[in-house]
Amino acid sequence: MRVIAIDGPAGSGKSTVARKLATRLGLPYLDTGAMYRGVTFAALRRGVDPDDIEQVNRVAVECELDVDQGGVVTVDGVDATIEIRGPEVTRAVSIVAANAGVREELRRRQREWADDRDGGVVEGRDIGTVVFPDAALKVFLDARPDVRASRRSKEVTELSYETVAADLARRDALDEGRDDSPLRAADDAFVIDTSRLSVDEIVERVMERLA
Ligand code: CDP
Repeated sequence: MRVIAIDGPAGSGKSTVARKLATRLGLPYLDTGAMYRGVTFAALRRGVDPDDIEQVNRVAVECELDVDQGGVVTVDGVDATIEIRGPEVTRAVSIVAANAGVREELRRRQREWADDRDGGVVEGRDIGTVVFPDAALKVFLDARPDVRASRRSKEVTELSYETVAADLARRDALDEGRDDSPLRAADDAFVIDTSRLSVDEIVERVMERLA
């Protein structure tokens, strides 16, 4: 099995780079952030409080999640592609992602996904550190907070730069500070500061590492 792990905070270029790499290499691609967002969507839709550890854990185990190659995300048979990126889910996702039961269930699904395909490009926060510690290549993308916030605010045009920057800072703190699989670079990760790099330049650097 050959896994390429791409980790990093929001706005680091992770998703775009992981997608391009997967296409270049002809490998399947998995966005694990979409899975955490999918569980959050399922909990909110069932009226479950994101802070209710046991109930949210149960939602994670019971919900039907499908994240396809084209980015379409289906939760319990409902197309949630747009809503998982919306403000309600974004507000609650890092609370849900700090739930150890949720992480255990999603780790299991992520490993099963990779086993079924004999590997692929997997993107997230804990892929190189916890989910696939034996990955063939671990990449950790990072960038200055203001660069990440400005990239994200160009995608989410309905929110101000200040709102987006505050949300990223809040999620960074929650993701880095949690006990279970906190966001960090693996000791053996190839760390790239993407602040001044284009997507193509990042992809080239990773391709050089693979050569
Ligand atoms: O797209 P963005 O970078 O904003 O975030 P995402 O990759 O969609 O992930 C959303 C949230 O899910 C993150 O802020 C983390 O709280 C959580 N997450 C995680 O804990 N572990 C992962 N492997 C992926 C995402």
